[in-house]
Amino acid sequence: MSLPREEVLKELELLPVWKSRTTSETKTPARATETIETVKAGEIIDVAQMDSDALEAAVKACAACSLAQTRTQAVFGVGDRNADWLLVGEAPGMEEDRRGEPFVGQAGKLLDNMLAAINLKRGENVYIANVLKCRPPENRDPHGEEVVKCAPYLKRQIELIRPKLIVAMGRFAAQALLNTDNSIGSLRGKLHDYNGTPLIVTYHPAYLLRNLNDKAKAWEDLCFARRVMRDLQAQAADISA
Ligand code: URA
Repeated sequence: MSLPREEVLKELELLPVWKSRTTSETKTPARATETIETVKAGEIIDVAQMDSDALEAAVKACAACSLAQTRTQAVFGVGDRNADWLLVGEAPGMEEDRRGEPFVGQAGKLLDNMLAAINLKRGENVYIANVLKCRPPENRDPHGEEVVKCAPYLKRQIELIRPKLIVAMGRFAAQALLNTDNSIGSLRGKLHDYNGTPLIVTYHPAYLLRNLNDKAKAWEDLCFARRVMRDLQAQAADISA
């Protein structure tokens, strides 16, 4: 990122974007995190009340940051909109930008294999999304202001899907969702919380393609996630019994 994230958020009066808010907080800052001001002067998009279709349409038409000028198309997300599992990556790459679907390149093939290893399949009780909905040119790291502009979309997506478990893939997704600068090494292996939803951190599939030795650790993370999900599903079954 080109600017320290906290600074960008403070500058735009959008802190805390990723932290849960208490009901006692005033309406003004709460709404500020749910609106997106587009680059077209005066246009404010309020995503807080949108349903999935409206949200997808807003993302596809979004011109809130300069990525709108370089993308082929925005990549909203893919899968079961009532999924228990939500996997979150960083941003679309070249292939995703071309096809309009997350994780369809080389990293996506590995992700599909990782899912298969724990008996999951893209689209079946699984939803896949990214922190950024548009491809950064030349696959550069996302800029802080791009994250700030895009954050309300993922926040609303999570509210609508209401997954039982979020898996943040890679340092960037983990840090954005958990509002931290901690290393991925220190975030793995723990059960975190995103606005009341359990969250687990693992390596990004693209990283694993380059660092084969860490695949064993990713497997540990997946087994941990599967265990947590089984517990969560058992708890939900107990409550509804
Ligand atoms: N990397 C990501 O983080 N997301 C994609 O959709 C593809 C590659």
